[in-house]
Amino acid sequence: MSLSVSTMSSTKFSTILLFILLLTFLFHTLATGSSSTTFTIVNSCNITVYPGIFYAAGTSSTTTGFSLHSGKSKVLTMPHSCSGNLWGRTNCFNNSKGMFHCRTGDCASSTMECNGRDASQPATLAKFNLNVKSNRVDYFSVTVEKGYNLPMKVQPRVGKDIGDCMTTSCMVHLNKTCPLELKVMSERQCIGCKSPCQPLSKNCYSELTKACPQNATSVCASTDYLIEFCPTSTRCV
Ligand SMILES: *[C@@H]1O[C@H](CO)[C@@H](O)[C@H](O)[C@H]1NC(C)=O
Ligand SMILES: *[C@@H]1O[C@H](CO)[C@@H](O)[C@H](O)[C@H]1NC(C)=O
Ligand SMILES: *[C@@H]1O[C@H](CO)[C@@H](O)[C@H](O)[C@H]1NC(C)=O
Ligand SMILES: *[C@@H]1O[C@H](CO)[C@@H](O)[C@H](O)[C@H]1NC(C)=O
Repeated sequence: MSLSVSTMSSTKFSTILLFILLLTFLFHTLATGSSSTTFTIVNSCNITVYPGIFYAAGTSSTTTGFSLHSGKSKVLTMPHSCSGNLWGRTNCFNNSKGMFHCRTGDCASSTMECNGRDASQPATLAKFNLNVKSNRVDYFSVTVEKGYNLPMKVQPRVGKDIGDCMTTSCMVHLNKTCPLELKVMSERQCIGCKSPCQPLSKNCYSELTKACPQNATSVCASTDYLIEFCPTSTRCV
């Protein structure tokens, strides 16, 4: 008799334990989001790059601008459902009034954080739209519609095996073929090339789009994207 009672309560106990474990698992999955996306941003350039992030939708709890020294990387956990642009600013400095500015990709916030301001020309852009309609599908592309300042690559790394999922990139160092009137110079070096189209348009054909073909938008379900500035095997054109 006492044996059967003890067996019963132990069974009950196991059931409760299992239930608690299940609840914990469910809550953890919901809270941290098994579908949360990370961006691993790598600076393979031999200069400091100041990544900037603009959110068109989805509130940002992450940084919107920071410095990344040559050879360094930073991992960002992105808001669950968001869209916007990520780019690299170069030739940045604090002016005599202590305001932060960049000769390429400046977001005119006067600080290192872009605080809701988008890139200005010239800047190679990675456009992203993550977890669209909560179905865990991400869209992204690398574009020169706002001109060009750095070679850039976006590579899905985890869980990429759906339809049109591919690496998109602009793998050229485009400072020779840029038309003179569109060049952005610093210390006699061409540091960027503006888009010839005003207003800026995705379908603008130019030396830029010739050197850096505007590939179709990639559609992925990855949980980590490698975003690299100056990836190796970049050609100078
Ligand atoms: C950076 O690399 C380029 C070639 O890719 C070279 O021309 C330049 O001198 C290098 N700059 C520094 C500071 O090492
Ligand atoms: C500009 O000033 C900020 C804040 O004082 C500092 O963190 C940053 O390193 C400076 N940037 C440059 C390019 O000197
Ligand atoms: C664009 O896509 C094609 C294949 O679809 C690929 O060969 C090419 O390297 C891509 N270009 C860039 C700039 O990523
Ligand atoms: C183009 O960039 C390369 C690598 O940074 C540099 O060595 C070269 O001087 C640049 N050319 C022009 C015309 O600015």
